[in-house]
Amino acid sequence: MNIYGLIGYPLGHSFSKQYFTEKFDKMGIAENNAYEKFELADIQDFPDLIRNQPDLRGLNVTIPHKQAVMPYLDGLDASAEKVGAVNVIKIGEGGKLIGYNSDYYGFKTSLEAFIPAGGALKALILGNGGAAKAVAAALKDLAIPFKVVSRTKSADTLTYDELAAELTNYQLIVNSSPVGTYPKSDVCPDIPYELLTPEHYLYDLVYNPVQTLFLEKGQAKGAKIHNGLKMLHLQAEKAWEIWNS
Ligand SMILES: NC(=O)c1ccc[n+]([C@@H]2O[C@H](COP(=O)([O-])OP(=O)(O)OC[C@H]3O[C@@H](n4cnc5c(N)ncnc54)[C@H](OP(=O)(O)O)[C@@H]3O)[C@@H](O)[C@H]2O)c1
Repeated sequence: MNIYGLIGYPLGHSFSKQYFTEKFDKMGIAENNAYEKFELADIQDFPDLIRNQPDLRGLNVTIPHKQAVMPYLDGLDASAEKVGAVNVIKIGEGGKLIGYNSDYYGFKTSLEAFIPAGGALKALILGNGGAAKAVAAALKDLAIPFKVVSRTKSADTLTYDELAAELTNYQLIVNSSPVGTYPKSDVCPDIPYELLTPEHYLYDLVYNPVQTLFLEKGQAKGAKIHNGLKMLHLQAEKAWEIWNS
C-alpha cells in the first residue's frame, strides 16, 4: 500500500484529499494507493508520524508547518531553497525526506501563460505570508520587478494606503492574501480599484469562489483576470510527479 497525505493544523475540508482520491479512482489504482489527512498540532510530532506510517510515500504540507517542517528534512530541492518554504515532501529510499515547493512551480507556470511574453511588467504582491514567498521567488526568476504590499509598514514593503500614489506604476497585481475567500466572499483587498485600466493584469491565488470580488472589480475596469484554480491543479500534479520521480 502507498500512503500519501497532508499535514497541517487545523485541517478542515482538503482539496488535496479530494483531488488525489478522485485521481486514484480514475487511474484504477485506489486499491493500492490512498490519501489521508494527518492533523498535526505540534510539528515536534512529525518524526513520530513518519515512524508510525511506514507506507508513507509523500506529503503535502499546509499552514502552519510550511517553514517549521524544514529542520526535520534530510534535504531541500532548489524550489524549496528559493522560496524558503516546503509544501511537498518526498519520502524516498531508506526513508529519506526531501522538501520541495510546488506552489512556486504552479504559480510560475500559470503566470507565464497569462501575461504577455517579454512585456515590461512591474508587480505588486498583496500579502506577506507563505504563498507570497512562492510568488516572489517566481517573479524574481521571471525578472519581473515587484513590491510586497502589507498591512504592516516596513522598509521594503508598501502599505495599502500608499497605493493611491503607486498603483499606476504597476501593471500586475497578485492577491496572495486570503481576503475574499469563501464564506467571506463579499470583501476584497483594499486597493484603489478606480485606478485600474485595461493595461492591468489581476491574478488571485484564491480559487473559492472562482470569481472573487477582487477579480470582479478588476474586470469591471477592463483588466485581464486569472483565478487560483490552475495553480492549484498544477501544484497538485507537480506533487504527484515529485513523489513518483
Ligand atoms: N491557488 C493555489 O494553488 C494556492 C496555493 C497557496 C496558497 N493559496 C491561497 O493564497 C492565500 C494566501 O496563503 P498563505 O498561506 O500565504 O496565507 P496566510 O499566511 O494566512 O496569509 C498571507 C498574508 O495575507 C495577509 N492577510 C491575511 N489576512 C488579511 C486580511 N484580513 N486583510 C489583509 N491582508 C491579510 C497577511 O499579510 P500582512 O499581514 O503582511 O498584510 C498574511 O501574511 C490563501 O487564500 C491560500 O488559499 C492558493
